[in-house]
Amino acid sequence: MKKAKISGVGSYFPDNIVTNDDLAKIIDTSDEWIQKRTGIKKRRLTTGENTSDLAVIAAKNAIKNAGLTPEDIDLIVLATTSPDYLTPSTAAIVQGKIGAKNAACFDILAACSGFIYGIKIGKSFIESGAYKKVLIIGAEVLSKVLDWNDRNTCVLFGDAAGACVLEETDDIGIETVNIGTYGDKADLLTCKSHPLNNPYYKEDMDTFGKISMDGREVYKFAINIIPEQVNLILKENNLNIEDIKYIIPHQANLRIIESAAKKLNVGMDKFYVNLDEYGNTSAACIPLCMDEMVRRGLLNNGDKIITVAFGGGLTYGAALIIWKK
Ligand code: ACO
Repeated sequence: MKKAKISGVGSYFPDNIVTNDDLAKIIDTSDEWIQKRTGIKKRRLTTGENTSDLAVIAAKNAIKNAGLTPEDIDLIVLATTSPDYLTPSTAAIVQGKIGAKNAACFDILAACSGFIYGIKIGKSFIESGAYKKVLIIGAEVLSKVLDWNDRNTCVLFGDAAGACVLEETDDIGIETVNIGTYGDKADLLTCKSHPLNNPYYKEDMDTFGKISMDGREVYKFAINIIPEQVNLILKENNLNIEDIKYIIPHQANLRIIESAAKKLNVGMDKFYVNLDEYGNTSAACIPLCMDEMVRRGLLNNGDKIITVAFGGGLTYGAALIIWKK
């Protein structure tokens, strides 16, 4: 049976670096509070680039690193919670801008788990024989949907994009992907899109277009779902945690990752972490980590990696990837 492998990764983030001290000048917070509660030191925030602009550069880098051209891509799946438009899809805008004229395109919304949902979709299309080369992008300009008066949320997020190309292979690659949702917990992390507004009914605009989160409840969900999903992947593949070279977790909060490490009885060196530099970039976090790891020479053929995420929905996802360039 055909499998899918990751043949190229790429990423991009805005130049504008915003430290915790910079934020403390505009809202009631401090570097000490943010670092102690989250591990975040800085993040990148756009000074004009929108989600598609970041995605275009990440996509071009991933395609180049796969040794392909945009015309080779059959399908673009873009995961985002912060699209440029409701229509067209951000994937369609990227397709036009990079000249991937042979690709079908759509966006998916699974919040911070979006990239793993994208991997599941890409893997399924490749294994079914429908497509041979699929571009998965996670891209976010969450800064445009943050409430800059809400210190509980606005200090947590950053803007970035990451992408990977999936291609057909005969042996090793993306082995298992599990995804799921607890829709009964949907209220814990929301961003309303548009108010009802027609000649018969009008809603108040004020609560729209801003992220709102019950941080403590999402935290409790996260510290359980990460070890649960990692253990499930290990069991399904008859592996032990010692067989795994790296776990690439969603980059929301260092304390969440430390708690997961404790529950899994492994050292923090098993986890790849860059949230100190970029904050939570939602669907972009995981490909951003992968690209950085490739550039640092940390991923070699045969390495077993688990990636695991959680986010609004509440969604979750985890994947076992055996690295093969
Ligand atoms: N600066 C200073 N003080 C602050 C800040 C801030 N930025 N934010 C909150 N506080 C204050 C609160 O007002 C509160 O003060 P009080 O005790 O006087 O009421 C105090 O700090 C403690 O607040 P808590 O909410 O209890 O802080 P907690 O330790 O839970 O940390 C945090 C909050 C960081 C949000 C944590 O709950 C968390 O990480 N949750 C998970 C969030 C997450 O992972 N989201 C990912 C999904 S994102 C997606 O899908 C798009």
